[in-house]
Amino acid sequence: MPTDPHHALRMLDWDSRHFGCPVASITDANLDDIALVGALEAARLQEARIVYWHAPASRQPDPQILERYGGQLGDHKTTYSWQATGAENLPADADIGEWPRGPASAELRELAREAGTLSRFRRDERFPQDRSITLYEIWIERSCRGEMADAVLVAKAEGTILGMATIAIREEHAARTGQIGLIAVAQSARGQGWGLRLMHAVQRWLLEREIQACTVITQRVNTAACQLYQRAGFALAKVESVWHFVGFVKR
Ligand SMILES: CC(C)(COP(=O)(O)OP(=O)(O)OC[C@H]1O[C@@H](n2cnc3c(N)ncnc32)[C@H](O)[C@@H]1OP(=O)(O)O)[C@@H](O)C(=O)NCCC(=O)NCCS
Repeated sequence: MPTDPHHALRMLDWDSRHFGCPVASITDANLDDIALVGALEAARLQEARIVYWHAPASRQPDPQILERYGGQLGDHKTTYSWQATGAENLPADADIGEWPRGPASAELRELAREAGTLSRFRRDERFPQDRSITLYEIWIERSCRGEMADAVLVAKAEGTILGMATIAIREEHAARTGQIGLIAVAQSARGQGWGLRLMHAVQRWLLEREIQACTVITQRVNTAACQLYQRAGFALAKVESVWHFVGFVKR
């Protein structure tokens, strides 16, 4: 049965407010080119200026569609997952602790901006870049306040914050899973093991709460992050293509 293009489209209130223009998402990952055009035309009727489409990694829309609707690949969104084996040996780390619930600090906001450097919003310059940066500041602020995370772990040496990781607990199929939202190490402290120590601290934090699994999403181009997750025992779970269609309503 053909997909009703209006049903394959969802307007995104938060993104629309944040980016200052109507933003929509195509909700069906498996549209053929004809149905994709239908969804994009439905978006045009809604005056969407930005449309996201999460599709299988191998999906390549017709170049003419991309040309006509301002389509570009935003990201190879890459999900890693970890399942505890029971053989974990994760001793406590005195340099890593939990950030008290409340506002974020300037150092944490800077680390959050670092975490967003390779995001699809930063790499696609058609997005208002100031807004793409503040997205990550809002994310850490809301994480520290407990709205977008259950814990923010902070690595400190001699009173200076060198890294952070945020953890949210999700209920999935009656099981609790951890999700790392943001993770970053200060540029001056990279390559010294802080990233791996933060990952281990996340795993320990989860195991202490009897949570045996965790996921983290990154970009395939973020080699350092991908390697770090694998080094911490995470396995590649999923790669999706995220397409951006931008600005086509004015044509
Ligand atoms: C990803 C990041 C957190 C790694 O932190 P780090 O403290 O430098 O990492 P570590 O020193 O603990 O390294 C641990 C492992 O990560 C991998 N790794 C770290 N940096 C790497 C790099 N530049 N290239 C490839 N692998 C890298 C390695 O496997 C390394 O293990 P090894 O040294 O035994 O080979 C850091 O590069 C960073 O903050 N990047 C910017 C923010 C970001 O992109 N966050 C992820 C958002 S999804």
